[in-house]
Amino acid sequence: MTIGIIGAGNIGQAIAKRMASAGIPASIANNRGPSSLSSIVQNLGAGITAAEIKVAAKADIVFLSVPWSAYDDAVAGLGPWGGRIVIDAMNAASVGPEGFRPAELGGRPSSQLVADRLPGARVVKAFNTLQAAALASDPHAAGGRRVLFVSGDDAPARQEVARLIDRLGFVAIDLGDFEMGRRLQQFPGGPLAGINMVQFP
Ligand SMILES: NC(=O)c1ccc[n+]([C@@H]2O[C@H](COP(=O)([O-])OP(=O)(O)OC[C@H]3O[C@@H](n4cnc5c(N)ncnc54)[C@H](OP(=O)(O)O)[C@@H]3O)[C@@H](O)[C@H]2O)c1
Repeated sequence: MTIGIIGAGNIGQAIAKRMASAGIPASIANNRGPSSLSSIVQNLGAGITAAEIKVAAKADIVFLSVPWSAYDDAVAGLGPWGGRIVIDAMNAASVGPEGFRPAELGGRPSSQLVADRLPGARVVKAFNTLQAAALASDPHAAGGRRVLFVSGDDAPARQEVARLIDRLGFVAIDLGDFEMGRRLQQFPGGPLAGINMVQFP
């Protein structure tokens, strides 16, 4: 299984760091190109390589961790997806002087809009609810395991993402379809977004 990460900022690097800690190789890409990531990948750990976006996008599981305002541009010309999984770690909001401003989604789940844009991809929403620093830190916290929420309309894809989450040391809680994700997991508004939850045995 290969992993690609599109977006190498706070969240992309947090995901890559967890992959390195779990011994799972991953490629990571940004807007400026792989040479701009050389010192960053050295600090992320073994197995993490800088790549062009189109290379990272060929992985079996592709993370999208770019600003909402940039995702349309970031995925332009990528594919075909051929049933591969795309994990939407984005939050559909922009930051302004007055705080977070939700994007206009017409009442639809943000990940459904992402899925519309990526025909043939199996889109799963996950890795969006923790702040980057919490996501980057050891998921084995205080004797328990940190929780990541999963939602999407493709149940087998959700299960596959849950298995990856388990390999990374987190606990996956499957919320169900995109609409449940919109209500519970989506930021801003979802009550589980921003919650740093730890499950104890
Ligand atoms: N920060 C958090 O705590 C947090 C928590 C949960 C979810 N999120 C969500 O995660 C996503 C990323 O947030 P972030 O804080 O990691 O952002 P960030 O630190 O600003 O990083 C954004 C990354 O996206 C890349 N990028 C921008 N436009 C691109 C394009 N057109 N094509 C390819 N790559 C592009 C940037 O590349 P360059 O470096 O080359 O500019 C950069 O690597 C957002 O949707 C955010 O809502 C963030």
